[in-house]
Amino acid sequence: MSIPLHTLRAGVIGTGFIAPVHIEALKRLGVQVTAICGSTAAARATAAQWGIGEVYGGYDYRGLIASPNVDVVHVTSPNKVHVEQSLAALAAGKHVICEKPLGMTSRETERVVAAVKRGGVRSPVFAVNYMCRFFPAVLQMRAMVERGDLGRIIHVQGHFFQDWLLEETDFNWRVLAAEGGKLRAVGDIGTHWIDAVSFILGARATSVFAHLETFHKSRLRPKGQVQTFARSDPKTMERYKVDTEDFGSVLLKFGKAKHGHVDGVHANASISQVAAGWKCDLAIGIYGTKASVQWNFQDPNEIRVGGRDRPNQILQRGTAGFSDDVAGFTDYPGGHPEGFPDAHKMHYRAVYQHIAGERKAPVRFATAADGHHEVELCEAILRSSKAKGWVRV
Ligand SMILES: NC(=O)c1ccc[n+]([C@@H]2O[C@H](COP(=O)([O-])OP(=O)(O)OC[C@H]3O[C@@H](n4cnc5c(N)ncnc54)[C@H](O)[C@@H]3O)[C@@H](O)[C@H]2O)c1
Repeated sequence: MSIPLHTLRAGVIGTGFIAPVHIEALKRLGVQVTAICGSTAAARATAAQWGIGEVYGGYDYRGLIASPNVDVVHVTSPNKVHVEQSLAALAAGKHVICEKPLGMTSRETERVVAAVKRGGVRSPVFAVNYMCRFFPAVLQMRAMVERGDLGRIIHVQGHFFQDWLLEETDFNWRVLAAEGGKLRAVGDIGTHWIDAVSFILGARATSVFAHLETFHKSRLRPKGQVQTFARSDPKTMERYKVDTEDFGSVLLKFGKAKHGHVDGVHANASISQVAAGWKCDLAIGIYGTKASVQWNFQDPNEIRVGGRDRPNQILQRGTAGFSDDVAGFTDYPGGHPEGFPDAHKMHYRAVYQHIAGERKAPVRFATAADGHHEVELCEAILRSSKAKGWVRV
């Protein structure tokens, strides 16, 4: 028996760029947001803005997790505390939606996989926020590949370009390996691309060949914390050495999919956080023996289908071009655009429905194992870049 989503209660750890995206999406779903955790001032301000009853200042995430009024914990803090906070939530029997990447190293993320496994069928639900899976266009591309509409998949190509770290004065904790992980551009946004492609293909990457570049060997940083995408005054900054990459060029080989249309597919992706003018330009092209399909995150409501001996088509969400597979993941009619906030909403809806429906809904969201796999991939990409050769994942 399924329970209504509004009976489930969420607690959010973190108050930065992405936390309000979670809160807003949960409110749109009718889920109660009962608790917030962060610095004392930011947690109070966020609680006041959104009408959240319980405030856990001083980064007291244990207090939030222990609250009897929290069923699902959203981990939206920086990467280095994801595993510690996820494990604490799981140990308290709470369901978790953890931001990506799942952690800093595969050694620590395998502890999350083990904790979920230990719980067996009664384990709390655990999801990693690779929400690109929940754009209707991405689900549509996945359905097309699975049905064989594109034939046998031959190759995949794309990029994820941003420019918010283009200047040497642009700073965020992600630039520091100790804070965000050894891979920055690839770990932060490249894994969104890789996870979405794996989801569309129904297969995981098995080997990689990567080249990483750091254009700013040193950068200037402000004294103190900075929120994501915020700018600072260069006069109050200090210089530091950069130990993460600005750009990555990655070749990937994918394994076999159950549906039989993917086996040994070759993919290449460019990942950059220094691509002037491009804010969130995630592009994916899937090329098969019968047809191809392309999609871009910044134009999320349509996909372009290519055929050799017939005119190419633009298929739009909410119209006849999108099939029934996508129906449960879009709320507005064609011509009424949906985008980034909606993909978050659809992801959380899928996870909460899974919780509410006693685990009967199919799992389309990224699990702890998927999150762990992305961290393993990042480590293989780093090894490959150093060794200048193919590395198995
Ligand atoms: N899925 C997505 O689309 C998406 C988009 C952006 C960011 N993210 C992920 O979300 C996470 C946060 O990124 P952001 O851009 O919001 O960063 P941010 O720096 O803007 O915010 C981080 C927040 O965490 C708080 N914080 C710091 N240490 C903490 C601790 N120990 N416990 C609790 N809170 C703590 C900070 O005060 C801040 O409020 C990252 O892991 C990032 O990769 C995901």
